[in-house]
This record gives sequence, structure tokens and C-alpha cells, in this order.
Amino acid sequence: MLASRRLVLAHFWLAFATFAGSVVLGAWQMWARSPLHGGPADAELYYRAVTAHGTALAYVFPTLIAMGFGYAVCVSALDRPLRGEGFAWAGFVLVLVGALMSLLAVAAGSSSVLYTFYPPLTASPFYYVGIVLAVVGSWFWAVLMVYNMRAWKQEHPGERVPLAVFGTVANALLWLWTAVGAALEILFLILPLAFGWTTTVDVGLARTLFSWTLHAIVYFWLLPAYVAFYTLVPQAAGGRLYSDRMGRTAFVLFLVLAMPIGIHHLFADPHIGEGFKFLHTVFTAAVAIPTLLTVFTLTASLEVAGRLRGGRGLLGWVGALPWDRPIVLATGLSLVMLGLGGAGGLINMSYTLDSTVHNTQWVTGHFHLIFAGSVVIMYFAIAYELWPHLTGHPLRSTKLACLQLWLWFIGMLVVTLPWHLVGLMGQPRRMAYYDWSEPGLAAQGPLVSASAVGGFVLLLSAVLLIVILVRSRRGEKVGAGALTYARALDDGSPLPRALNGLAVWVGLMIALTAVNYGYPIAQGFFLQHNTVPAQTVTISP
Ligand code: CU
Repeated sequence: MLASRRLVLAHFWLAFATFAGSVVLGAWQMWARSPLHGGPADAELYYRAVTAHGTALAYVFPTLIAMGFGYAVCVSALDRPLRGEGFAWAGFVLVLVGALMSLLAVAAGSSSVLYTFYPPLTASPFYYVGIVLAVVGSWFWAVLMVYNMRAWKQEHPGERVPLAVFGTVANALLWLWTAVGAALEILFLILPLAFGWTTTVDVGLARTLFSWTLHAIVYFWLLPAYVAFYTLVPQAAGGRLYSDRMGRTAFVLFLVLAMPIGIHHLFADPHIGEGFKFLHTVFTAAVAIPTLLTVFTLTASLEVAGRLRGGRGLLGWVGALPWDRPIVLATGLSLVMLGLGGAGGLINMSYTLDSTVHNTQWVTGHFHLIFAGSVVIMYFAIAYELWPHLTGHPLRSTKLACLQLWLWFIGMLVVTLPWHLVGLMGQPRRMAYYDWSEPGLAAQGPLVSASAVGGFVLLLSAVLLIVILVRSRRGEKVGAGALTYARALDDGSPLPRALNGLAVWVGLMIALTAVNYGYPIAQGFFLQHNTVPAQTVTISP
């Protein structure tokens, strides 16, 4: 059994409970504004639901998965107990309390500001303080990851840090730095407004600081899936990791490049000059490199596995892979969604093409396909992989788990492909209702209804996930053995020192942030005409 199993289980259970509740809200939202509903939705309830859905699924669910998986990796790959487990529990409690505070504030109706909480919309202070507590809780985790790796390195001089730990610590450092933007925004601009100490706010500066966090947070969600791609999938498929060094290179490139590109979320904002918009477009293109490296290495690793299993010919190895193993199936489905979502992302990221889809339902389709699709399906697979080591019981059953993954995949495509289409037809995002009798909207109605059906397929998949995880806590106990990681083809070859630690890369990350964000943030201090009065949330029916 895994050390710290209670700690890991607590994170996974809270994560999936939050997830399941939020999927219910998501399905309801899609139905309520579709022609199937037969009348306008209650806008007030709709925006509460959207805010709760986004807040829970962006700030609570992936954070808990990253934390829980990180602890599991740390104790199993370093093969020793976690140092500072008391702090880990304190971090967990902070995330729990913070999440409850924020979500209760949303439920009370005072904080329907959506998860991006862009000022001048202003929520109850409880909403923001809850988010701050949850983030601080996750920082406990991040510091513990760095501390545990450092302690291990000091006692094992010259040995290579296991890749799973290297990737996890890269993610922890990325998150520590990524969260700083929104933390500065909340502490210096938003909380004074929410408490009534100030009456106006610089919305441009607030959005710039938020964009610091908004892009790279996606990589914080993504990297646990990448750790699984590199270290769990090749072995589950029956092969070897094609290149350990390629994995390390991808992780350090994410660390340096993921963060200073967030202005691609502000292409339509007048307070940012076109030069910086172009600069961020260029770096956004560069961040595709570590993803391409990952897809290449993962495919090569799967080919090694398929050929070891007797696959012949150009593509015969694909059919030879064990597709009945949940994590292998999830990887295949994840790559399909990543390919489709990545192609759409090329449009969002380009400074000029973006204007054709800006603030339309296309954007919602894009990030659901990438995050809720290709990333979250790997969270399920990680849980299935860890579960026998956490509970001592076999997964019940792998067939059911594969069905659950297929349902998630199909549901996500049925939800997001129509969203991309109606986005191209000009449908704005974040609308509580549309007047379907309007001739200009008539063509979009059937697509919106189809996507709402997909929402219920996703709900069914979420219910099935919980059923599988609960059922797998009963039945006969079996020794699951130790959680082990894929061996790499280049394990024996020497490793450059820069790829066995992260200090150089953290330096580069901070330097590039200063170059790409220094001026856009600094101008907030001498451009004084951007401030506007606060707006409390009132939605008239
Ligand atoms: Cu982005």
C-alpha cells in the first residue's frame, strides 16, 4: 500500500465530489438555455450556477488532483515517507475551507462574477478570501514538493531525480509563480474594492495581472496528465519511455514558456499596445513546442510497446496495444481531443484570426475540449491507476472504467463541436438565454440542443466514475504491490546537470516574465485614466 494513502485519498475524494456536483450544474446550464427548455432561464440562478461551475472546476478540482497525485508520486517514486505530512494536511484543510467559503458566497447570490471575476463586477469579500485560502493551501503543497525533492537530492548526490518527481516539482514551481498575478490583483485591487476601502478600480491593470495567472494555470492543470503520459502510460502499455531527457526538456520548457504569454487573452483590450500583443502571440506559438515533444515521445513510447507486444508493419503496433487498460484507452482518447482542441487553439492564439471568434461560444468550446476533455480524462485514468494502491482492492471493473472513459469522450465531442460551430455563427458566450424565435438565431437552435444532450452524457459518465470508485473500496483485498514507473530507453546515458534540477529554469521563467509583463504592468501605475466605479452584481429578470 502506498505511504500517505489517507492524505492522497482525501484529496481525490474531495476533488471528485466537487467535480460531480459541478457537472450537474454544467448539464443544467446547457439545458436551461437550449430550445429544449421551452422558455427563458432564470438569469439570476444561471449566473450563480456558471460561477459555481467555473470556480469549482478551475480552482478546486484540478488543484486537488495535482496535490493528491503529487503526494502519491513523491512517496512512491522517491520510495520514502513524505516529509512534512502535517503541513500537507494543513494545506488540504485550507483548500477545503477556502472552497466552502467561495462556493457558499456564490450560492447566497452575492457573488455571481464568473470564475474570472473581472472588475468592475464586485463580489462579496468572502468569495475572494475563499479563493485566496484555497491558493495558499495549494502553496503548502508546492513548497512541500520542492522541499522533498531537495532533501532527497542532498542524500543521493549524483543520482538522477525520478522523472515523475522532476515533472511534479516543475509543476509546483510553475504554480507558485503563476498564482502571483491573480494574488496581486486580489490583494491590491479587488479586496480593497470588495471591502469598500476604495470606490474605483483600474480594470486594465486588473485584467493584465489576471492574464498572468489565466494562461499558465492551464498548464498547472495539464502537467499532472503529462506526468502520467511520460511515467505511467508507457509501462501500462507494456513498453518503455522513449526518452527520459525529452520528458525533462518538455517540463522545463513549460516552466519557462507557459507563463509570460497570457496577453493572448487581452487581444481586444485597448490598454495593451499591439507590440506586446504580437510578442505574446510569438511566445504562445513557442509553447506548442513542449506539447509537440510530448506527443512525439508518447507516440514513440507506445510504438515501442506495440512492437514488443508483436505488432508488425507501419501501423500494426497500434492494434497491438492493450486498449482494454483504462489508462491506455484514456491516452488515445485524450490525444484525439488534444489534436482537435490544439487546432482550434491556433486560431485563438493568433492576434488577427482571434477577432473572428473573440468572446463567442467557440472559446468555451475550445477550453472545454482541451481541459475538460483531454486533461480531465487523464485525471480519471490516474485515479483508476492509483486506486488499487490506495484502497487495496482491485478496480471494479476495468470494463466499466473503459465505458466511463468512452462516455466522457463522446459526451465532450457532442458538447464542444456544436459550440465551435455556433461560435463561428457569432453566438456570444456567457449568455443566460437566447430568444429562439428570433430568425437570426433559428439556425443555431438545433446545434445548441444537440450540445445539451451531450451534457447529459457527461453527467452519466461522471455518475459512473463515482460508482466505480465507490465499488472498488469493497470486495476481497489483494496486494497491489508498489506503484512503479516506466523505465526509459535512455536510462543509462549521462544526464546534463541542468536537466536534474530546476534552478536555472526558474531564473529564466522570472526573467522572461519581467520582459513580457514588466512594461504592461508598470504602465498601470502611470496611466491614471483607467479607473472606473465598482459594480455590484444585480441581475434584473
Ligand atoms: Cu491562454
